[in-house]
Amino acid sequence: MENRTCVDFLQWALPRMGLRWAGLRRVRRQVCKRIGRRLRALGISDIAAYRAYLEQHPDEWRMLDGLCRIPISRFYRDREVFAHLGRAVLPELARAAAARGETRLRCWSAGCASGEEPFSLSLVWAFEAGPRAPRLGLEIVATDAERHLIERASAARYGAGSLKDLPPGWRERAFAPADGLFALHREFRAYVGLESQDLRAQAPPGRFDLVLCRNMAFTYFAEPVQRTVLPRLMGALVGGGALVIGAHERLPEGAADVAPWEAKLGVYRKAAACGPSKKDAVVG
Ligand SMILES: C[S@@+](CC[C@H](N)C(=O)[O-])C[C@H]1O[C@@H](n2cnc3c(N)ncnc32)[C@H](O)[C@@H]1O
Repeated sequence: MENRTCVDFLQWALPRMGLRWAGLRRVRRQVCKRIGRRLRALGISDIAAYRAYLEQHPDEWRMLDGLCRIPISRFYRDREVFAHLGRAVLPELARAAAARGETRLRCWSAGCASGEEPFSLSLVWAFEAGPRAPRLGLEIVATDAERHLIERASAARYGAGSLKDLPPGWRERAFAPADGLFALHREFRAYVGLESQDLRAQAPPGRFDLVLCRNMAFTYFAEPVQRTVLPRLMGALVGGGALVIGAHERLPEGAADVAPWEAKLGVYRKAAACGPSKKDAVVG
């Protein structure tokens, strides 16, 4: 399929799915290849026929939406962000949680891909912040719309390239070589729960001290969708909890109850008085 033909098609289709062309432009080749494969699988000869097919088969939109998801991730992506989480954010959130009498620090990784982000967080906790808060446990809920990514996260096996940004020595401490890959030791997976979930429709139950939503909603979702997703993310946080978005992302204008904590790293904080504690929470 011609690049121009596919771009025209994406510019027509993405807004209909609540997605942004500006976000997907950089990864269009990958998306166009997948669409080409889908056309061949359906036996459809060109993109005009696929448009007609979409109009006649509304279920196909769900398939196309899946073809537009970008699973790129790696451990410790944006090193400065994870270093800052370990040095400043997790210790501060741990102090606040302990002061409220909590026994666990709860974190949510929304759009967790194959587990690189939540497992990075579990390593930061195990090697840096956790030893300074010995009475506090950690729980991470990791969600992604793609079931096959959740299955890969459950396997927790990664290529060397995926681990290259980890601090020196962490790979050796946390992974065992396994058939040319590296398997994360069980102890670092124990507190990570994995679920297939679409952020546009759902949040995991309960409230969280830390929510990571990086390189997903605020890159790929259209602004009106970002505006519906942000209250879901904020509603999942305890008062004083932290929201981390991608280092190159921006929150939609006029976001309420959220202030920059370390904005150049994408770290924001919910106003302290907002929302009940985790014990009172019921989140749908
Ligand atoms: C580019 S990856 C980012 C992974 C990780 N957060 C990071 O920053 O490295 C985006 C992930 O978001 C997931 N995703 C896309 N749309 C989603 C949605 N509506 N609900 C939940 N996950 C979604 C994709 O499947 C993909 O795994």
